[in-house]
Amino acid sequence: MEPTMAVVMCMYLELGQVELTGKVAIELGAGTGLVGIVAALLGAKKVTITDREPALGFLAANVKENIPPDQLGAVEVSELTWGQGLERYPTGGFDIVLGADIVYLEDTFPSLLQTMEHLSSESSVVLLACKIRYERDTNFLSMLKQRFTVHEVHYDKERDIHIYKAVKLPARRDL
Ligand SMILES: C[S@@+](CC[C@H](N)C(=O)[O-])C[C@H]1O[C@@H](n2cnc3c(N)ncnc32)[C@H](O)[C@@H]1O
Repeated sequence: MEPTMAVVMCMYLELGQVELTGKVAIELGAGTGLVGIVAALLGAKKVTITDREPALGFLAANVKENIPPDQLGAVEVSELTWGQGLERYPTGGFDIVLGADIVYLEDTFPSLLQTMEHLSSESSVVLLACKIRYERDTNFLSMLKQRFTVHEVHYDKERDIHIYKAVKLPARRDL
């Protein structure tokens, strides 16, 4: 699969509109790991690049190939299947949560949302590169908007790819 959405996300990160220097970032459903690798190269202090277990060998090899040896300590490849074993990751522990082309399996929407909520605090930024192909994709955005404020911050017209920025809403205090 062509990592087009990952490429558009990297182009967006390179614009510098989101501060990466010194930040702690995590990439979900990383595939090749391109986005996490670029985040590290652009100055993130620590990047955790995640995917399901079968993807990790390829991911680790890509990281080793593309990150300078003196920066390798700042990048970790780690198993994260959405919604599972989240206690292994600090609650609200990431400044930036990144995902390219990860909104496509409707069955995973609740666990993907749960994962984003777990990893982010109200000061974190979640960035998603998405192609809106089917109605289900807008359904995910609707679900996301119940827990996050969501804005489109970039649109690549040629490739029809959107970048959404989501910031967690304050926890509800139901009386
Ligand atoms: C379409 S690929 C996108 C890969 C990469 N982000 C890119 O843009 O090239 C979707 C990725 O999500 C991962 N994925 C799918 N379901 C997942 C789940 N339940 N938990 C974690 N990762 C999942 C897949 O393993 C795959 O790497």
